[in-house]
Amino acid sequence: MKLTCKQLNPGPCKTWLIGNDANNEVIFLDPVIEHVNDYQQLVEREGLHVGMAIDTHTHADHISGGASLKDMLQCEYGMHAASPVKCATFSMNDGFTWNLFDTIAVKVMHTPGHTRDSISLIFPDWIFTGDALFLDDGGAGRDDLPGGDAGAHWETLRKFAELDDELIVNPAHDYRDRQPSALKRQKETNPHLKKSLESRDAFVQYLEDLKLGPADWMKDVLTANYACARDPHAAWIPADSPACEVKGTMDISANEAQVGSIPPFMLKQKLAGKQPPLLIDVREPGELDAPLGHIEGVLNIPIGQLASRIGELDEHRDKDIVTVCRSGGRAYTAAQILSVGGFSNVAVLEGGMLQWNTL
Ligand SMILES: [Fe+2]
Repeated sequence: MKLTCKQLNPGPCKTWLIGNDANNEVIFLDPVIEHVNDYQQLVEREGLHVGMAIDTHTHADHISGGASLKDMLQCEYGMHAASPVKCATFSMNDGFTWNLFDTIAVKVMHTPGHTRDSISLIFPDWIFTGDALFLDDGGAGRDDLPGGDAGAHWETLRKFAELDDELIVNPAHDYRDRQPSALKRQKETNPHLKKSLESRDAFVQYLEDLKLGPADWMKDVLTANYACARDPHAAWIPADSPACEVKGTMDISANEAQVGSIPPFMLKQKLAGKQPPLLIDVREPGELDAPLGHIEGVLNIPIGQLASRIGELDEHRDKDIVTVCRSGGRAYTAAQILSVGGFSNVAVLEGGMLQWNTL
């Protein structure tokens, strides 16, 4: 018997069909709701026997096809035991091993960080990593969504580092047509894995300093998946968004808004002038009272709320605006959001409060 594995979807969300050539038994991994009718046709056309649909985690960038496949194909729907997804029928914990197709030992590894319920599946030759590890410079899934935990992700990456170098990594996403390759290559090239060689604190700080896009809409997608939505339109999802990706490991693509920056000394001069700019600090409220402090008169809108609260800034549309955060990462994203939203005079405080405090 030979195991087979093929990716079914066009686009960045990957659904893996894993089967064997002996008796047409298969499992679906990370099915996507837009394609469930295609999956059903494939099953009928090829006479497949579907044992289970599995989600490696609760997805935040697309509606899962797991609930629909469970109904359409009368199969089990498997997720980690901690998953809040209500309609999963098969629970898996770390270390659980099952005999797939009665012959192949598949081991479940709990790999939290991107979400609390993330699992990876280890086959004899492959590892399916969900969003816990992407390919090459893609890094890994973001950890700033509900249930995300950068420290837990560091521990997960250390576990990956202990695994067999020859395992082929098959993630749940890829946005740039990267091809699955060996874990050895990931250890050499993947910025998340490389950074995880440093301390947990250094890794957490690294992620905190990355430039992440807004995530509010993703919370609605999570809620839809918790509730086992069977409607592709159960939550609004922007087209062509590299949603689960951590942008800090990527080049900024050409169609993203380019924004300028302002050094701290120049901002200080402008604040003392006749037409001071509007300062928007996009850190979380508690950070403004932390040792780095805040600049007097700053308007605090956390980065996760900026896109939905942009209307509050209408009266400042013609003003100079400077965005501020700890080191400049979140402020850069904020400036892009404002720029796309029609604010033309936006700059980022260079080096954020870290630099400001050296004045
Ligand atoms: Fe994800």
